[in-house]
Amino acid sequence: MNDKKNEDGTTIVVNDDIDRIRKKVWGDRTPPVVERKSSGIGPDRTTEMSDYFNYAQYDRATRSHTFYKEMIGAMLNSLKARIGNKKCTILELGCGNGTLTEELILLKNAEIVSIDVDKNAIEFTSSRVKASNLKFVRADALKFRADNHVDIVIASWNYEHITNYKNGHELARSIVANLKKDGLYIEGAELIGTFQNEFERQKAFIDYHEEIIDRALKDGNADTAEIEYLAMISGITGISHHKRDRETHIKEMESDGLQLKRMEKFGPFTKIVGSAGVYFFEFVRADDVK
Ligand SMILES: C[S@@+](CC[C@H](N)C(=O)[O-])C[C@H]1O[C@@H](n2cnc3c(N)ncnc32)[C@H](O)[C@@H]1O
Repeated sequence: MNDKKNEDGTTIVVNDDIDRIRKKVWGDRTPPVVERKSSGIGPDRTTEMSDYFNYAQYDRATRSHTFYKEMIGAMLNSLKARIGNKKCTILELGCGNGTLTEELILLKNAEIVSIDVDKNAIEFTSSRVKASNLKFVRADALKFRADNHVDIVIASWNYEHITNYKNGHELARSIVANLKKDGLYIEGAELIGTFQNEFERQKAFIDYHEEIIDRALKDGNADTAEIEYLAMISGITGISHHKRDRETHIKEMESDGLQLKRMEKFGPFTKIVGSAGVYFFEFVRADDVK
C-alpha cells in the first residue's frame, strides 16, 4: 500500500496497520484489488459495492456478522410496532444482497419497492427474492422519488455508500421527499469513532474493522473477515464508502428535515472502538415534531 494515494489525493498513513490486518486475514494469499470500476457517479454508475467484492460472499458474510442479526431484528420490531396489520408502503434503500428484503416481503399487507444503484445487486437479489408485493428498481437513493409518498423508508448499512463526507444531508432530504407525513425512517448503520483529521479518520476505520475482523477470525468466519478487510480498504482509500461517527451522522440527518427519535447500539463495546459500532435508528420528519 506504500505511497498509494486516496481518491482525494491524501496519503494512506496507516500502512503498518493495514499490513498487520492483511496478514491475519489473508496469510500468504493476495487480497483482491479494491478499485473503482464503474465510470460515473450517482445514477450514471452501473456498479458500486460489486466493484470490489461479490454479493454472494457479502451475503454469507453479513449473515455471520456478529451484530447484524440483532440490528435487523430491532429494525423489524420497529417496523412491526409502527404498522401493525395495517396496509402500508415501504421503500428500501440500497437492498444489496437482500437480507432485509427477504424479511420485508413476509409482511403481507406491505407493498415494497427496493432500490439499489448497483446492477449486480439488483440481478443477484431479484433472482433470489421474489414476491407479489415486491418491486426492484435500479436507482440512486439521492434521486429516486416513489410514485406516492411511503409510510416507511428503511435502509441497512447504506448511508456511507449513498453519501460521501460532503453530501450527507442529501440523503435526509431524499428520505423526507419520499416519506408521508407521520412516516418513519428506520436505519441500521455502522459508525466509526470521531476524527478531526485524515490520520484519525484512517485510524478510526482500522480500530472498528480490526475489532470486527478479530471476532470473525475467532469464530471461524473467514467470509466476514475477508469482506471486512475489503470494506476497510475501500473506506480508507475513499473508493466506495465513507463511514463517519455517530454525532456527525445524526447531525447530517437532522440538518435536512429529519429528527432522531430513538437509537440503540448492539456492539462492540470496547475502549478502543468507543462509540463506534452497529446501531439502529428511528428518525421522523422534523415537520411532524414541530
Ligand atoms: C453495504 S451494502 C448494504 C446491503 C444490504 N442492505 C445489507 O443490509 O447488507 C450497500 C448497498 O448500497 C448500494 N448503494 C450504494 N450507493 C447507492 C446509491 N446512491 N443509491 C442506492 N443504492 C446505493 C450498494 O450498491 C450496496 O448494494
